[in-house]
Amino acid sequence: MTDKPIIDHGLEGVYYTESKIAMIDGHLGRLYYRGYPIETLAQNSSFEEVCYLILYGKLPSMMELDSFNYQLRNSREINPSVLAVMTEMAQKADPMDTLRTAISMLPGYDIDAYDNSNEANMRKSIRLISQVASMTAAIGRIRGGKEYVAPDSSLSHSGNFLYMLNGAKPTENDARVIDIMMILHAEHGSNASTFTTIAAGSTLSDIYAAVTAGIAALKGPLHGGADEAALKMLYAIGEPENTEQYIEDALAGRKKVMGFGHRVYKAYDPRARIIKAFLEELQHSSSEEVKKLTAIELRAEKIMVERLGNQKGIWPNVDFFSGPVYVSVGIPLELFTPLFAASRMVGWCAHMMEYWQDNRLIRPLDYYSGELDLKYVPMSER
Ligand SMILES: CC(C)(COP(=O)(O)OP(=O)(O)OC[C@H]1O[C@@H](n2cnc3c(N)ncnc32)[C@H](O)[C@@H]1OP(=O)(O)O)[C@@H](O)C(=O)NCCC(=O)NCCS
Repeated sequence: MTDKPIIDHGLEGVYYTESKIAMIDGHLGRLYYRGYPIETLAQNSSFEEVCYLILYGKLPSMMELDSFNYQLRNSREINPSVLAVMTEMAQKADPMDTLRTAISMLPGYDIDAYDNSNEANMRKSIRLISQVASMTAAIGRIRGGKEYVAPDSSLSHSGNFLYMLNGAKPTENDARVIDIMMILHAEHGSNASTFTTIAAGSTLSDIYAAVTAGIAALKGPLHGGADEAALKMLYAIGEPENTEQYIEDALAGRKKVMGFGHRVYKAYDPRARIIKAFLEELQHSSSEEVKKLTAIELRAEKIMVERLGNQKGIWPNVDFFSGPVYVSVGIPLELFTPLFAASRMVGWCAHMMEYWQDNRLIRPLDYYSGELDLKYVPMSER
């Protein structure tokens, strides 16, 4: 047997490729998409423009954005056969399972399905970004016992998502809230779901197979499921005055407080900072439920930062503050992770296409620590 190598458990700290898509400075708490600070994009850009930037590596001209929007808007309708399967499945299965299944059906209805050229992959990426938003909204409708709402091509990406979910045209403010949330979730380097996407695609399968794997990885509470878990925690706390005791008990019991900590950020997550600014508005202008959730969050944040912030580098992440913001625009809890998938689809696609420019099969090693040369005992003697 070989000497035991150094094992990078969870691939922590391991670089496996180069990328020009996102830069995360975990120590300073900075995030850039294609060189642009996330704060600048959240303030000035739209989700559609950010998608273009992430996919093509540059900000679009007016004509380029118009053409990109045209393609996105014309890819929104869900194929009836896919919708039928979703309708059957969504009533019983977890929304992420339905979404994963629906996305994996798409090659059956795509003329570009098995064309792996960069041009075809770009077309498929645009369709995927469009479809995943429609599917997320449709899952919400089906689970709410409501009829499917056909897309409205006069609306923006986020506006149409809310329209397909709620059946009514959203206010400009609500559409902008979703737009910003989608910008903040669009891309984040080689996180677990992006790495999974790339690992699946590195076998030269195809972009649909790769992002289906990405959706599977996003589902877990240590990754995309954390915003849902964080909101459930706020409901479990119940009243603002219970917050401090709840957090103390969680820490004493060595339980993870959802929405805090990050493998890369050891400083305040810049996306959380942007979302926190929404909360200050929500405290004044929203329902009693949202005001209460917000009050609990701000108290929880204060105590966590005091206890674990500087001391251990555990700060709020993007998922901590998202819950009340989503609740304020009518997104049900169970759609938080599918909406994350709808935002991150662009990051998955961009990374996959970038990796394919210089593809290498991803095949790490595990160190075998079991026994060897065991004597085979026949069944009758065991
Ligand atoms: C995201 C996460 C998996 C990254 O963590 P990681 O790099 O694997 O770090 P570890 O889980 O090894 O944690 C390191 C230490 O910080 C503590 N810690 C990390 N996150 C914590 C949290 N959310 N609440 C309380 N303690 C936490 C761990 O208990 C551990 O303490 P120890 O050194 O005393 O054993 C982790 O912070 C976590 O589970 N957070 C909650 C889920 C979440 O919000 N995920 C969304 C990420 S965007």
